[in-house]
Parts: sequence; C-alpha cells; structure tokens
Amino acid sequence: MKALVVANWKMNPATFREAKILFEASKKAIEKSKNVSLVVAPPALYLRELARLARSRRVLFALQHVHDQPSGAFTGEISIAQGKDTKISACIIGHAERRAMGETNDDCRRKIVAALANKITPILCVGETSRDHSGAHFQFIKEQLKIALMDVSPQKVAQVVIAYEPVWAIGATAAMPPRDMHEMTIFIRKSIVETHGKDGMHMKILYGGSVDETNALGMLRDGEVAGFLVGRASVESAKFSALIHSLAAA
Ligand code: PGA
Repeated sequence: MKALVVANWKMNPATFREAKILFEASKKAIEKSKNVSLVVAPPALYLRELARLARSRRVLFALQHVHDQPSGAFTGEISIAQGKDTKISACIIGHAERRAMGETNDDCRRKIVAALANKITPILCVGETSRDHSGAHFQFIKEQLKIALMDVSPQKVAQVVIAYEPVWAIGATAAMPPRDMHEMTIFIRKSIVETHGKDGMHMKILYGGSVDETNALGMLRDGEVAGFLVGRASVESAKFSALIHSLAAA
C-alpha cells in the first residue's frame, strides 16, 4: 500500500514565490517515489495557483481548516464548497492548533458531515495534550473519536482518515516511539469498531508530531500507520525530499 503524506504547511511560507519553489521541489520528490502519495495543505490563499501548477494526479490538495456551513456571514472562514472549487480533495479537521483556538469535538463532528456530503476526505486530528502512567489518554482519544464520528454512518466511516497527533510531540524535538504508536493504532481501530462496526478496521490512520527523514520509515514499519501528517519538515525542501525518499525503502 502507498504511504500517504499530508504536508501541513500551516502559515508558511511567507510569500507565494517561496510557496511555488517549495511546491515544485515537493512535486519532484514525489514523482521519483512511486510508493508515496502526497496531499499538500498550503495556506488557502495559495491553493488555486498551486493546483494549476500541479498537473499531476499524484499530488492532491487539502484545506488546513474549514467551516461546516456552505456560505454565509462567517468572517475569515472558508467553506468546504469553496475549497472544492479550488480543487481540494481533503480537509484537515480538529488540528491541535485549531483546537487550542477553540475548535471543539462537536465542531469536528459537523465539519466531518459537511466534508463527506461534499465528497471531500476529512482528515480528523486527535491527540492528548499530555500523558502520564495512568493511561487516561486512551479515554481522552476515545471520547474525541466518539463525538467527532457520531454522525457518520458505519458505511461511510472508512472514508474518514484519522491523524493521531499527540500534542506534546507537535513542534517538539522527537516523535513518539513507533511501539507506542502501534499500541495507539490498535486502540483507535478498536474504539471505532465498537461504535461503527467492522469497517473501522479499514480506516487509514496517520501519525503526526515531529516526523522527519530520520524517523518516518521506522514509524511506517513498526507503528502500523498508513502515513504521516508533517508540519515543519514539509516546509523545508531538502528535508521534505529526504523524508519522501526515505519512504521508498518501505
Ligand atoms: P510538526 O507538526 O511536524 O512540526 O511537529 C505536525 C503537525 O502539527 O501537524
């Protein structure tokens, strides 16, 4: 199976000129790595122009954040339909940085419904802010999944991609060890099977949090993941190309 890499550029780079250079480099890296598929989530302002440059079915696009309503008086927001008009095929929902700004599990629930209704793949981010030895983070993840997926039918649940991103590993110095991810992948599947039945077994689960060219392959091999949500390493061309190439050995 192809590894899925979602490049979450966040609020980078500062100019479209730089975005274009970064995009061309990312595209080149992906063209050489047949076993990786790439979804770029740039700042929305750059989407339309980058989609024009893509000219390849191997590179898809996502919005980093969406509103659940199709249009209306929501200053600063972007609807899924507007994203679709700029050729997105996915959207990130519930990223930790958006949750820190107030996005709730209920917001995620509405956005997932809207994305699926528009035939856009929702990439739902879940993750605890901290961990101790009590194992309370498992319950926390279960609750995030339960509420966000509440309105998704069992038939459609496998269309949702889950990105597990422990908040303490985002923007940190090291990623979570693959064996801990393996345990979390099993737990996520088990939780979704409990609420949505056996299709939960087929869901794509990504890992995010300090992924780079040094740890991605190990995580892909031992973490039971389908791919990655990458922040910092996705906006440094050399690092990102090395990451993509490292996955060729998978
Ligand atoms: P990072 O960010 O790769 O810079 O840790 C990951 C994310 O926030 O999606």
